[in-house]
Amino acid sequence: MSSRLFSPLQLRSLTLPNRIVISPMCQYSAVEGNANDWHLLHFGQYAVSGAGLFIIEATAVEPEGRITPECLGLWNDENEAALRRVLDTVRPFASMPFGIQLGHAGRKASVRRPGLGRGSLTPEEGAWQTKGPSTRPYGPGWPIPQALDRAGMQRVIQAFVRAAQRADRLGLDLLEIHAAHGYLLSSFLSPLANDRTDEYGGSQINRMRFPLEVFAAVREVWPHHKPMGVRFNGSDWNDAGLTLQDGIAFANELKRGGCDYVDISSGGNAPSRIPLRPGYQVPFATGIKQAVDITTMCVGLIRDPHHAEAIVANQEADLVGIGRGMLNNPRWAWHAAEALGAPFEVPHQYLRGATSEGVPSQDMVMVKDPV
Ligand SMILES: Cc1cc2nc3c(=O)[nH]c(=O)nc-3n(C[C@H](O)[C@H](O)[C@H](O)COP(=O)(O)O)c2cc1C
Repeated sequence: MSSRLFSPLQLRSLTLPNRIVISPMCQYSAVEGNANDWHLLHFGQYAVSGAGLFIIEATAVEPEGRITPECLGLWNDENEAALRRVLDTVRPFASMPFGIQLGHAGRKASVRRPGLGRGSLTPEEGAWQTKGPSTRPYGPGWPIPQALDRAGMQRVIQAFVRAAQRADRLGLDLLEIHAAHGYLLSSFLSPLANDRTDEYGGSQINRMRFPLEVFAAVREVWPHHKPMGVRFNGSDWNDAGLTLQDGIAFANELKRGGCDYVDISSGGNAPSRIPLRPGYQVPFATGIKQAVDITTMCVGLIRDPHHAEAIVANQEADLVGIGRGMLNNPRWAWHAAEALGAPFEVPHQYLRGATSEGVPSQDMVMVKDPV
């Protein structure tokens, strides 16, 4: 039987060659938001990985929206030119479409990058004022965010819109809005972070309002033929937090607004214990997929190709995001194809190492034409 993981997926006019998605992963390597040679290296190795879609890391729509000072950005011409150089170099070699995740870190911004001890930046390190739905900090010891007023919310919407226009100019195929993990849009959605008493806080419909306004404004400028999705939490892992019903309601509204897929993650709105195990977030994706009938991506400790295959074959999700597994093994998709007996494409330069057997059979490995 042919592999479902290696079957194509259509999103508007975009065809993904298979269901394996390189999950967005911050590289904490940009300078003033500008991509550089690290990104060239990073994008380059995944361009020839055989996955079905590469999603560029959370990319800040304004400087204050960066998680760390080293996060990628797309708020000015310089950012756009820097990313263009990387994409123009890498994409002719790529066998998959490229998407980008646009985000704003909200009250979880202004922290040190991993490797520097994490934690909030000090004023000497260049800390900036964080913004949130209200003044509740992420956790004990975290800085108190400034509650966004209406003018601030409009500014953020416009920043998302302008970044989306830049992403389109860069020729990117797909756009994902980051509304997960406790960052700005996620914090509006979650009762753990949103204490507002106006029409943007309190009830489920109110908490969804701002993220939906951002989505609608971006969808309006993102070309009709290009797909757009949203990553959000299926759970906050906290009894007082988001529920699956909240996720279903949000997905329904997004679908109505022209969203092509939802990418279901969890956690990050308050410190919590997450019961990690392979596929720990898949049930949220499945619950939303079943209730809403929308293309759904799942992610989280999926390492075994047979597990990924079963998720798609059993219709638990349509797309499987792989994060750390890809960092560990950028050839994850080749190994998965071999394990599942699915044909896959390799650059001719790597043909002789395409399979563990050493001599790939011609009906298994298709050579990507040299560039
Ligand atoms: C180094 C690193 C950076 C990440 N950066 C992002 C990001 O930019 N945006 C995002 O939505 N998730 C980010 N994540 C979460 C991953 O996309 C993924 O959802 C998570 O790691 C769980 O999947 P995995 O077990 O396959 O790694 C990051 C994870 C890692 C390990």
